[in-house]
Amino acid sequence: MPKRRRQSSTTTSSRPTNTPPPTAHRLEASTTATSTFAVARTLLLRNAAAVAVGLAVAYLFWTSRPLWDPEMRLWKSVGDASLILLYATLIPGPLARLAPRTARLIPWRRELGIWFGVFALVHTFLILDGWARWSLQRLLGYEFIPELDRYARLEPGFGLANLIGIAAVLITIALLATSTDWALHRLGASAWKFLHNSVYIIFWLILLHTAYFLFIHYSPHFHRLPPPPDWFRYPFLILTLGLIALQTTAFINTIRLRKLRAPA
Ligand code: HEM
Repeated sequence: MPKRRRQSSTTTSSRPTNTPPPTAHRLEASTTATSTFAVARTLLLRNAAAVAVGLAVAYLFWTSRPLWDPEMRLWKSVGDASLILLYATLIPGPLARLAPRTARLIPWRRELGIWFGVFALVHTFLILDGWARWSLQRLLGYEFIPELDRYARLEPGFGLANLIGIAAVLITIALLATSTDWALHRLGASAWKFLHNSVYIIFWLILLHTAYFLFIHYSPHFHRLPPPPDWFRYPFLILTLGLIALQTTAFINTIRLRKLRAPA
């Protein structure tokens, strides 16, 4: 039997012309590994930064309201941290339309959005467990009144504000569940974008939800004295109006640029 000539691994003669040399394979593999590592590191850093912002904000709110009962301070500060993360998620989009150099903040939206959702879920759980105690009646603002020996609606507005919160949290869950590249590929870019644009619905719902608790719920009432006004009232108004102004300016600017680019 004729002895087959052993081919050296570096010989190119027997390799199909379009196949890269094995060294190139190795290089490619190591480049892919390096870039996978770099991507994983960036994602980890962004998640760590987003969760650190959430925790720092929650801590600031927690320490700023020493007079409230600890349970209440906790669910309020987690809700406030969630709100700040939601606003942080909504800033890069319109900002990049006005100042294109800030477009590098756009990739942060996913991690900020994910942690907004996580804080919102924790806030919801704390309220359902601590305030409503898993009772639908309490969640809707009804309390058992021993003098009447029945449930009566004690807090007009409370139930509606909670329902608004629940609507927001349901949309949040849908966005959380689809905040992956896998979901983006499965749904297709257009459907995915359509779904994720509902973050603006969440924004308006949460704006109403928070405004109720900051401005209406603790106002003078027939059955209790109101606590001192919450310091967050005016920062909340400034942040919200600032964000709406940013979105409106970006919208007007987009129309202006479109008109400028359109052929005369
Ligand atoms: C996306 C979801 C949600 C966000 C971002 C959110 C955010 C907030 C914010 C910012 C506050 C005001 C905290 C303050 O007074 O400083 C708040 C209060 C409150 N939220 Fe939510 N919320 C959400 C969902 C819900 C849901 C689903 C419920 C009901 C199950 C709920 C019930 C409450 C209650 C009862 C308060 C008043 C707490 C108190 O004054 O002690 N929230 N929420």
